[in-house]
Amino acid sequence: MKRLEDNVERVLLAKEEIAQKVNEMAAEMDKIYQGEEVVFVCILKGSVAFFGDLARAVSFPVVYDFMCVSSYGSGTVSGGSVRINKDLSTDIAGKHVVVIEDILDTGNTLHALFRQLQARNPKSLRLCCLLDKPERRTKPVSADFVGFTIPDEFVVGYGLDYDEKYRQLPYIGILKRCVYEK
Ligand code: IMP
Ligand code: MG
Repeated sequence: MKRLEDNVERVLLAKEEIAQKVNEMAAEMDKIYQGEEVVFVCILKGSVAFFGDLARAVSFPVVYDFMCVSSYGSGTVSGGSVRINKDLSTDIAGKHVVVIEDILDTGNTLHALFRQLQARNPKSLRLCCLLDKPERRTKPVSADFVGFTIPDEFVVGYGLDYDEKYRQLPYIGILKRCVYEK
């Protein structure tokens, strides 16, 4: 059995770099929310690691909630919609809400999701992404809090998967092309 590491081309972001960035992002959020209660919406499953670390690093009170979504249609379907496989368990009306996402890629999923969440009348709604691949964007979505802007490479680890694997790696690495180009 091959080890997961054997399929990683190189480490893009080491564990320590990620931890430092999460603390910086938390400090930025602390300035904005200053003791206000905020609902953190974890987009399953890729954001689990980031969500847990970020929630523990901020100093305002956080309410945890979880959503599982999948986008359907292709990039050619304008305003494409999103299927909610698991919805929030809290009512976000009148609440400060931050959607926590692992990576902003084409923007299709978040574009559709934000329209749906906005319709529930939160007091504020912001987006926080650990990674951003701006080159790939097809929808006008930008994050309010961004960790790292990365090149158009397929990355895994720290929650991010390829075929449901590699999420457990403590770093973010570039996956070898031979893994998915076969
Ligand atoms: P999009 O922004 O709607 O295209 O989709 C973003 C989703 O695609 C993310 O939440 C990830 O699940 C997945 N994704 C995009 N790029 C990568 C990557 O480099 N590695 C792992 N998953 C990715
Ligand atoms: Mg995924």
